[in-house]
Amino acid sequence: MSRHAAFVLLLSYGIVLQLSHGIEVNVTNKADKLCLYANLKVNFSVPYDVGQGKTKIAAFQLPETAKSNESTCASNSSSTLKLDFGAGHSWTVNFTLLGKNYQADTITFGYNLSDTLLFPNATGTGTKSVTAKPDITDVGLNTCYSCKSKDLIQADSVNMTLSDVLIQAFVTNGSRSENITSCRADLPTTTAAPTTPVTNATSAPTPPPTTPTPTLPTPSTGEYRLGANSTACLLANFGLRIGYRQGQKYQEINLEPNATQASGSCGTNSSELVLVSNDMTVVFTFLSDTKKFSLHVFNVTIKGVQFINTNLSLWQAAVGSSYMCNKEQNYTITDELNLYTFNLQVQPFNVQKGVFSTAEECFLDSDLSFLVPIAVGVALSFLIILVLISYLIGRRKSRTGYQSV
Ligand SMILES: *[C@@H]1O[C@H](CO)[C@@H](O)[C@H](O)[C@H]1NC(C)=O
Ligand SMILES: *[C@@H]1O[C@H](CO)[C@@H](O)[C@H](O)[C@H]1NC(C)=O
Ligand SMILES: *[C@@H]1O[C@H](CO)[C@@H](O)[C@H](O)[C@H]1NC(C)=O
Ligand SMILES: *[C@@H]1O[C@H](CO)[C@@H](O)[C@H](O)[C@H]1NC(C)=O
Ligand SMILES: *[C@@H]1O[C@H](CO)[C@@H](O)[C@H](O)[C@H]1NC(C)=O
Ligand SMILES: *[C@@H]1O[C@H](CO)[C@@H](O)[C@H](O)[C@H]1NC(C)=O
Ligand SMILES: *[C@@H]1O[C@H](CO)[C@@H](O)[C@H](O)[C@H]1NC(C)=O
Ligand SMILES: *[C@@H]1O[C@H](CO)[C@@H](O)[C@H](O)[C@H]1NC(C)=O
Ligand SMILES: *[C@@H]1O[C@H](CO)[C@@H](O)[C@H](O)[C@H]1NC(C)=O
Ligand SMILES: *[C@@H]1O[C@H](CO)[C@@H](O)[C@H](O)[C@H]1NC(C)=O
Ligand SMILES: *[C@@H]1O[C@H](CO)[C@@H](O)[C@H](O)[C@H]1NC(C)=O
Ligand SMILES: *[C@@H]1O[C@H](CO)[C@@H](O)[C@H](O)[C@H]1NC(C)=O
Repeated sequence: MSRHAAFVLLLSYGIVLQLSHGIEVNVTNKADKLCLYANLKVNFSVPYDVGQGKTKIAAFQLPETAKSNESTCASNSSSTLKLDFGAGHSWTVNFTLLGKNYQADTITFGYNLSDTLLFPNATGTGTKSVTAKPDITDVGLNTCYSCKSKDLIQADSVNMTLSDVLIQAFVTNGSRSENITSCRADLPTTTAAPTTPVTNATSAPTPPPTTPTPTLPTPSTGEYRLGANSTACLLANFGLRIGYRQGQKYQEINLEPNATQASGSCGTNSSELVLVSNDMTVVFTFLSDTKKFSLHVFNVTIKGVQFINTNLSLWQAAVGSSYMCNKEQNYTITDELNLYTFNLQVQPFNVQKGVFSTAEECFLDSDLSFLVPIAVGVALSFLIILVLISYLIGRRKSRTGYQSV
């Protein structure tokens, strides 16, 4: 059971890493070493007076741009995370160390009603402050407190909703621990009354299987060509999605055709299509042996990281025709990179009058694919008949043999 729990925690840890778009803070001590780490999201919901007995609610998030320079690791038994944002607002958490555990003592939220951006038409002015005691206790020293779940903290009438929290106070050796103490809400519900919420992620967290996080919409189909309409030498229509792994993160990204520039070159034996978008640069190199062509090299650079396979043999078709595959295709280009195509049609050689020549369709598209189960069925029944016949023959033979004795 504890193994199971550890696995789930490990998994949730991976998800925390993937989904955190909250603020990330590294607080360093006098020796310039990491002493407090925080990565979290906070949503605020603050009621305030707007006159005539009326109340409005200001709802906002802790911005990623909040300043953390007033955070301190004053001693090795107490430290403070202070995040200043907007026009005089701040969110502060105090941590104290108690033996082998640490905890968050108080959360203080100070908000400036004079900020007309967050509190339009407020009758009050100046800074108000509320405090609350969070349920972040008994966190093992040298472990990160992790809480993916939402945690509603009410301070007077103010609501603060924390989520995707990863905090380590009292970092000892200058780097964040891989060990996690999970909050109760993150623990699997099946384990009634979790006893020890402390666990370890020591067993090298091998990246979880390719689990695309939020599913992307199907990419739009781009129409790319090299050369003017009537004299185009290369045509390529497709929607493209790239799935890639960087460290422990697996991400998927669509190529946006309307923000993509196509360039390249056509040759007799080799043609190249280069697609440049904001997120990536993709280079397709096609080879031709004058009879057939195929995609030989796929080279993509995403955010400075290059993935390449120079020995492919995809999208094969006769020179003078085009290759087509309308169904979604999934190609493993490298261990770290998957290529998905949608509504694919390419012709890298011998384009006539700027239009695709007859298409050779991929197997999945062809109307023949429905024949497969039928063929299997026919083969099977044939086998059964064969077995039956040989059985009958065998029986007759043995009978005659018996009678002749
Ligand atoms: C915090 O430190 C980690 C590890 O050194 C680094 O990857 C991350 O970018 C830092 N974050 C910020 C906001 O400085
Ligand atoms: C915080 O607010 C944003 C935007 O209003 C919303 O998308 C998000 O779901 C909220 N998060 C939580 C934990 O309530
Ligand atoms: C705070 O949360 C409680 C419980 O969900 C809700 O009843 C209340 O209206 C919220 N207050 C504000 C100011 O959002
Ligand atoms: C933090 O930075 C702000 C400006 O970014 C500055 O005004 C303030 O004095 C700094 N505080 C500390 C304690 O360094
Ligand atoms: C929390 O830190 C603030 C300074 O940021 C300090 O004034 C306050 O006394 C501390 N509270 C506790 C309980 O340590
Ligand atoms: C502020 O009050 C003015 C008039 O009193 C009103 O026209 C305006 O819509 C209010 N603004 C907001 C954001 O409520
Ligand atoms: C996790 O905790 C165990 C025991 O507390 C410790 O031996 C190990 O070094 C820790 N691992 C990391 C990566 O901090
Ligand atoms: C980590 O696991 C080891 C062995 O499973 C155990 O002895 C140790 O106490 C654990 N550490 C923590 C912090 O749970
Ligand atoms: C060139 O191709 C585009 C898109 O296929 C089409 O809209 C346009 O009419 C063509 N121009 C000529 C001169 O054929
Ligand atoms: C690209 O197309 C998408 C929808 O297909 C649209 O939302 C987006 O604004 C377009 N971008 C540009 C730069 O035209
Ligand atoms: C792969 O593409 C990048 C540009 O995105 C280029 O700099 C690099 O030379 C290419 N590599 C090969 C082997 O073609
Ligand atoms: C694509 O193929 C890889 C490797 O075969 C597989 O792990 C992954 O689940 C596939 N993705 C989809 C969306 O089918």
